[in-house]
Amino acid sequence: MMAGDSEMLELVVEAVRPLTSAIKAFVLRSAHGGALPPYTPGAHLGVQVVQPNGRVGQRAYSLVAPHAEGCSYEVAVLHEPRGSGGSAWMHGLKPGAVVTAQPPRNDFALRTGSVPPLLIAGGIGITPLLCMARALAAEGRAFDFFYATRSVGDAAYLEEARALGATIVHDGGDPARGLDLRAALSAPQPGRHLQVCGPKGMVQAAVNLARDLGWPDDHVHCELFAGALEQEGDVPFEVRTLRSGKTLTVSAHQSLLDVLIAAGVDPLYDCRQGDCGVCAVAVEEGVPDHRDHNLSAREKAEGRTICICVSRAKTSHLVLDI
Ligand code: FES
Repeated sequence: MMAGDSEMLELVVEAVRPLTSAIKAFVLRSAHGGALPPYTPGAHLGVQVVQPNGRVGQRAYSLVAPHAEGCSYEVAVLHEPRGSGGSAWMHGLKPGAVVTAQPPRNDFALRTGSVPPLLIAGGIGITPLLCMARALAAEGRAFDFFYATRSVGDAAYLEEARALGATIVHDGGDPARGLDLRAALSAPQPGRHLQVCGPKGMVQAAVNLARDLGWPDDHVHCELFAGALEQEGDVPFEVRTLRSGKTLTVSAHQSLLDVLIAAGVDPLYDCRQGDCGVCAVAVEEGVPDHRDHNLSAREKAEGRTICICVSRAKTSHLVLDI
């Protein structure tokens, strides 16, 4: 059950545009005409997708352009063949299709202070940062912008980012040739905010380095894109639900949350990316593999609570009080 469910939007796909061989942009308008709810840069749309098992799941896709009075929403979706099927479903949408979505919400708001902000994007993580850069440019405000991808062919919105003054880096699959984070983060200043979005490794490296270099915690803001939550080497595990009496298998490419929802358990959740803590559940047996940013180091070490949207198991099974 989505925490804070608000009125859902019915949106019609107005246009689908390939950005790379694996990324498509979707332009969405209200299926009933009229204005769409406004949002601020960094916001995402919670789109309901149909998974291969027929169950409905929700995926968060960042809005790539600042809100313009009442018009349309644009999101971009990376097809993840090893994912749980949501991106494949999105890529199958054609103009005229109708989708349901939660109104935009923002867990990654653009913070600006007395000094130009630093925007760092990796891969499909460009989407919220492009929106921020466009908003800042429209207001005539300065910012520093870096965009790292594997290659030109993998880079969505490359020309748009370049036109906004982004420094573009292609690592060719070799992180050693990637963005020089140390140089980019080298000058923390009061009032200078860092906004970073991309794959987990890059985001974690940027956040850790920023701390080491003296960036205050409240000046560092990050978001992972959904696919970043999967890790190389993930294996299936079993989960038993005490209150609802189910025994389920979570495959390497599924989240615990999606498996519980698909099985008819009604867990509470919100951000789906380990930030809010709404999905935290008590662990009765087994050892969680914590991947959230919400639980404290002590809570993680105790292992009695798990954020089911992103975390997995270090043991072959977990027993949860749900
Ligand atoms: S839903 Fe927000 S931490 Fe899991």
